[in-house]
Amino acid sequence: MFVIKKDMPLGALNSFGVEARSAYYAEVNTIDKIKFAVNFAAYNQVPVLVLGGGSNTLFTHDHVGLVLRPTIRGIAVAEDMPRHVVLRVGAGVPWDGLVEHCVQRGLYGLENLSGIPGDVGAAPVQNIGAYGVEVKDCIAKVEAFDMQRRELLELSAEECHFGYRDSIFKRELRGKTVITHVSFKLQRTADLCLDYGDLRTAVEALGDPTLGNVRQAVLGIRAQKLPDPKVLGNAGSFFKNPVVPPERCGELKRQHGDMPMHELPDGGAKLSAAWLIDQCGWKGRRVGACGVHDQQPLVLVNHGGATGAELLALGRDVQQSVREHFGIELELEVNVA
Ligand code: EPU
Repeated sequence: MFVIKKDMPLGALNSFGVEARSAYYAEVNTIDKIKFAVNFAAYNQVPVLVLGGGSNTLFTHDHVGLVLRPTIRGIAVAEDMPRHVVLRVGAGVPWDGLVEHCVQRGLYGLENLSGIPGDVGAAPVQNIGAYGVEVKDCIAKVEAFDMQRRELLELSAEECHFGYRDSIFKRELRGKTVITHVSFKLQRTADLCLDYGDLRTAVEALGDPTLGNVRQAVLGIRAQKLPDPKVLGNAGSFFKNPVVPPERCGELKRQHGDMPMHELPDGGAKLSAAWLIDQCGWKGRRVGACGVHDQQPLVLVNHGGATGAELLALGRDVQQSVREHFGIELELEVNVA
């Protein structure tokens, strides 16, 4: 049965575990239900907030409108070719369930993205990435419901304007669509990407470079570095790694010889937010119920009972330190709601 709940507590629906309430809440597992819920919000003149697994959202206040949680399931083979397969996947499929499904079936492409929390529908929004792979590399198309025009959209990967933790869904289409399905093009032949950090060493320690070993290695590295949201509330990276233009690189290198810099094709560089925050002395620090994680300072954590506003205030303080020390602006990676 389809119900729109009133005055819904959101604490269990976001990986920070912060308490907030929504005036209305609906889980929608069909396009008809999405249409109904969107009409309901329009009729009541309240905004709609689409929530996936809640692993990248920081609630800083109660939501006066409708929180819509797409729960469309299903992993269907849309194209089955000798060299590749296209899977059309419901937005509500848990991300890591999809990765496991692919690894078990010998499909290459998503294995480095093992262990990322959240749902499939959220993956294209911020173009999730880890260990040298971004989800855009495997996305064939995204289907979404346009809440303003009340029609279904189909966007090719190119039309999604993917960038580093960025897409059209964070820009022109922000707050305007509900992603319903994502199609992934996966390879049947080995095409592994093991050159990021210590991934190759971790895979070799497990044996041959098989899909299963890559998944196990990634899960192992993540478990060492990233706090488990079920144990310690967090949303993964709170900040993006900052990108600086070519003209700033020389000066930064001169001033901070040991600053990690990942060179980009345009001559600019991606810096390590973790390093910058660490250098400012924030690693492992605690402010009230909030903290900067002691293994990965890019992650802010809720030690228990923190509010979203407190976590955001800590994030702002970290941004200010990095600005004062390095003249670099850290952008938020989490979505503040
Ligand atoms: N570092 C420190 N101090 C620390 C930890 C790390 O200085 O305490 C520095 C080191 O120089 C290290 C560098 O940070 O070499 C990079 O660390 P890591 O390889 O762990 O990656 P990251 O840049 O911190 C990014 C993603 C993660 C993703 C990892 C692995 C962003 C914002 N974050 O983190 O994504 O898992 O790479 O690929 O791009 C997420 O988006 O939520 C997320 C966790």
